[in-house]
Amino acid sequence: MRYLILAFACSTHFLFAAEVNVYSHRHYEADQMLFDQFTAKTGIKVNIVKAGADALIKRLKIEGDKSPADILITADAGLLHIAKEEGVLQAVKSNILEQSIPSHLRDPESYWFGLTTRARVVVFAKDRVSAADVPSYESLTDKKWKGKILVRSSTNVYNQSLLASVIAHNGKAEAEIWAKGIVANMAHAPKGNDRDQVKDVVAGIGDIAIINTYYLGLLLNSPNPEEQKVGQAVGICFPKLAGAGTHINVSGAGITKSSKNIDNAIKLLEFLVSDESQRIFAEANYEYPVKPGVRWSDLLNAWGDFTPDTINLSKLGELNRDAVRVFQTADWR
Ligand SMILES: [Fe+2]
Repeated sequence: MRYLILAFACSTHFLFAAEVNVYSHRHYEADQMLFDQFTAKTGIKVNIVKAGADALIKRLKIEGDKSPADILITADAGLLHIAKEEGVLQAVKSNILEQSIPSHLRDPESYWFGLTTRARVVVFAKDRVSAADVPSYESLTDKKWKGKILVRSSTNVYNQSLLASVIAHNGKAEAEIWAKGIVANMAHAPKGNDRDQVKDVVAGIGDIAIINTYYLGLLLNSPNPEEQKVGQAVGICFPKLAGAGTHINVSGAGITKSSKNIDNAIKLLEFLVSDESQRIFAEANYEYPVKPGVRWSDLLNAWGDFTPDTINLSKLGELNRDAVRVFQTADWR
């Protein structure tokens, strides 16, 4: 009898314990802060597994229906689209998500939703370059930048998504010419992460670097004074692509096909697009809110307003394979 009661207690705990299981590619402190606030507010526990997006998508496929995951979070819309194509996500209906997130920042069929926006921009050595020198991504292939551009490897999904959007706007042939032009202007073969490119600009190895906006925020607010100096020595500009706007991407989330806590999972996503959470993403991780009307942090305001590209970000996933092929042709390593 005692065993029976215990078994019953365990199974009720399993059935009724409020929790949500998140597989996340994001690695920022702001996220844990938000998950803790969500738990404090709702009593729903958030369990996190962190790994690279490719590994998480693979894991979801292997685990199938038995996967404990409810939510997949990645730092790139292209990867969310790929997760959708791989069949590991499900469409969900939420008026709050639909009303809070502009339509180009979420999947048209509601398989994933952007939670934070970031722009992939150019930072430059303030003593040698000015923002007016980089009006467009296309202008980066100008011969005047020969030996001056720093950018990370083409294996990085942020670059793949940038090139996917060049393909979407200008076509594959133009995109190939563009990628070759960037390779011809590189200060050295791609190595390191976005922050390393900025460090190389400040070290005089090149003049401009292509990076995601929040990495400049992370440098400026680094506990390491040397990194702060690096951040302070560069300016930021928001080039336009095909005359449209600056290339943006989202960190976002989809609910897994295997989810056993769908209501809790939707609640968590809705919490993450609340005004308060969106403010925290902007304040603590230097990302732009996806939700219109949420006040930016002082740092984002200091960088200035810009016109974002409004292409639906699912395009980045649709064109990811093309982008990888163009990079190979251009020998962008
Ligand atoms: Fe990142």
